[in-house]
Amino acid sequence: MDVKKRIEALKEEIEKHNYRYHVLDQPEISDIEYDQLLQTLIELESSYPEYKTSDSPSQRIGGEVLDSFDKVEHSLPMLSLSNAFNADDLRSFDQRIKKLASNITYVVEEKIDGLAASLRYEGGILVQAATRGNGTTGEDITHNVKTIKKVPLKLAKPLDIEVRGEIFMPKASFLSLNEKKEKNGEAPFKNPRNAAAGSIRQLDSKVAATRDLDMFIYSKVETDSEAQTTHMETLDKLKSLGFHINAYTEHKDDIDNVIKAVETIEASRHERRYDIDGVVLKVNERHLYEQIGYTAKSPKWAIAYKFKAEEVMSQIQDIFFQVGRTGQITPVAQLEPVEVQGSTVSRATLHNEDYVKNKDIRIKDYVSIKKAGDIIPEVVHVIKEKRQGDEISFEMVTACPKCETPLKRAEGEADTYCPNDACPAKSMERLIHFASREAMNIEGLGGKIVEHFYNEGYLKDIPDIYRLKEHREALMMRAGFGQKSIDKLLKHIEESKKRSLEKLIFGLGIRFVGQKVSKVSAMHFHQLFDIVKANEADLMAIDEIGEKIAQSVVAYFKEDKNLKKIEALKALDINMEYTGKSLNKGQLYGKKIVLTGTLPTLSRKEAQTMIEENGGQVTTSVSSNTDMVCAGENAGSKLQKAQELGVEVIDEDQLKALLKR
Ligand code: IVH
Repeated sequence: MDVKKRIEALKEEIEKHNYRYHVLDQPEISDIEYDQLLQTLIELESSYPEYKTSDSPSQRIGGEVLDSFDKVEHSLPMLSLSNAFNADDLRSFDQRIKKLASNITYVVEEKIDGLAASLRYEGGILVQAATRGNGTTGEDITHNVKTIKKVPLKLAKPLDIEVRGEIFMPKASFLSLNEKKEKNGEAPFKNPRNAAAGSIRQLDSKVAATRDLDMFIYSKVETDSEAQTTHMETLDKLKSLGFHINAYTEHKDDIDNVIKAVETIEASRHERRYDIDGVVLKVNERHLYEQIGYTAKSPKWAIAYKFKAEEVMSQIQDIFFQVGRTGQITPVAQLEPVEVQGSTVSRATLHNEDYVKNKDIRIKDYVSIKKAGDIIPEVVHVIKEKRQGDEISFEMVTACPKCETPLKRAEGEADTYCPNDACPAKSMERLIHFASREAMNIEGLGGKIVEHFYNEGYLKDIPDIYRLKEHREALMMRAGFGQKSIDKLLKHIEESKKRSLEKLIFGLGIRFVGQKVSKVSAMHFHQLFDIVKANEADLMAIDEIGEKIAQSVVAYFKEDKNLKKIEALKALDINMEYTGKSLNKGQLYGKKIVLTGTLPTLSRKEAQTMIEENGGQVTTSVSSNTDMVCAGENAGSKLQKAQELGVEVIDEDQLKALLKR
């Protein structure tokens, strides 16, 4: 046999044993025999480097060292999941879905506590692995992922596919890694998730190769209209290609059985060989995904049930009051610092006056703390048996802790507000929100700096951010601000001027206007000034916008001071147009198009995206303002109305032709 053939045969044999050992858990040969095969391959490859390929099992021992991580743009965003915390949340999820689709069943999966990654195969060969990053852009971690034995380097078929899943470190491996670290005098990892993330973030793949990482694949990347199978079938198909699929995946026909399965998993959560932090529930019927839809951050056809949070005890040292962006006053407990789920907690929210009074929470009380939704620490209850008699009863403040304006609390509402619009605390929170990642994303302009600049008088309102450059010299005189850091900040501020409209809308902090509403209104109107002019009906023409949001937007733009703010931003050269995906005044710029009936090849969502990416707006009802109706099979009253009004009617081919012009 020639050498090339011998190498190929060895590679195949080793991968077969790899798969049998790691995925099927049915080894045929001993570890020693396996190591011998691998050693033979490594030797052959080093003598004949021309036959060494990127899918060779010898890659698993690592060796590639990077200078830095490359960025990877995800083909489809890596979304996250919304959360459920109890059976009632799961039942309301089920109710919501049933309003959107019928004949659904569910798949129950463990929620693995690791880190998400996306793997791309070309012709069946692993070519790229990336972290989730911010969901749109991640980091290239191919060199490290290749060392994970449960990740196939070559699939059973030469397919071009992308799959996603969770990289994790089994608990036993984590414990022995920490033992080793401690022996070497190194700081141990806090938990298996940090250990997995730390290993994946190594530039030298030799390190990751020693770190016994594992990966479960839980999805195949494809647009909803490409998906032909159920989720269960997809998993089976992925398994037959050689992927490691979690065996604890169950198909359930209704929510009662889902809840039973969730309870069983929660009761045995600590018995797994890896950490799980919840259960993921997904609709099985993939052809319904598009119909059920998505929010800005997550699919509506899946939810993560989070296990009950760990509770720990601490003592309240004091209670102080925080003023939020909208003036909301939140009582906060200052605590004796305690460890909760891997981090030190010294403050916990007490939500509002009623929460504290109903639970009779007092200063000096011992209380139990948990992380609500695993993130925000909150006081769950008072341990009354530990009271000494010297506890101090809670008094709600009556004046704003920052500006001393008397506070207001509307009848029937739980929240107390500072009504003073010029309240410094509110102004600062508004500035912090504007600069935050989800809004204008001005790196370096966080809470501390905003407070600093605010107190120094450089920042009062949003437009002042863009005037900071006028104070460059003065800012440089200040302690702690070198020329480099000021210039870097000013550069980030300048860069933020170009952000697409939805970031600006969200940044303005209009009541009830979240990221999703900001996005859809930016896509719909394109120009901020068209939103400023819009009335409630114009706004409510957008599916996601109801009366409450529409009223709030109109009220915001009625206020003189808000209009002045926008004029000022315009004068400072802030972009006020939607510049999202390739919109740039496309072929359908400003055209209002209604979709009706079933199009021959495009799904509703795909057609809408195509139109929006080319500058058009998709509206739901036909009127004399409608420019075109794109009609498919079984088009009903909308088509009729278009004909009555003399609105141009086109079919899918004509729509596609318009985009090609
Ligand atoms: S599905 C569209 N399934 O949980 C969302 N996620 O916020 C696709 N995770 O970032 C995620 N186990 O890292 C899914 N069986 C599972 C999972 C799982 C863990 C993680 C994943 C994701 C986060 C959800």
